[in-house]
Amino acid sequence: MKRTKLLLIGIVLFLFGCSDSASEIDSELDGGPNTECIPEFPGMDVTYANYVAGVLNKYCIECHHTGNSQGPGDFTTYSGVLPYAEKFLARVVPDNADMPQGSAPLPKAVRDSLNVWVKNCAPQN
Ligand code: HEC
Repeated sequence: MKRTKLLLIGIVLFLFGCSDSASEIDSELDGGPNTECIPEFPGMDVTYANYVAGVLNKYCIECHHTGNSQGPGDFTTYSGVLPYAEKFLARVVPDNADMPQGSAPLPKAVRDSLNVWVKNCAPQN
């Protein structure tokens, strides 16, 4: 009899324990930041390390780096670039892009690749 009681208590605790953690996960999903992003070009692999970082180093960091008052942000690191990645779509990717400031838009193939990287959720790949 005692055993059955203990077992029952055990089962009740187990069930409550489960439902608690389940609702915790739910509220995390509901209340968390909206970071959900679905890659738009899942078959295309434009990497940060092998491609994007090189483009930014070549064309952008002369203005966009720490301590330089010319351009905002610091494009020398991934975490510095990430907050600006979405903005590349308006400022760097279009045919009439105004970045790099004071120069012609980047070559079309480069702009296309940046477009893929941003729309694939700007991964640190
Ligand atoms: C000659 C300096 C210079 C170069 C080179 C340059 N930028 Fe900029 N950039 C600026 C300045 C200054 C601003 C802020 C004024 C503005 O938004 O127009 C800016 C703004 C931006 C913004 C908008 C930031 C915001 O907070 O809204 C983005 C995105 C950007 N640049 C991306 C780039 C990229 C990518 C490159 C390289 C392909 C680049 N820039 C090259 C000077 C430069």
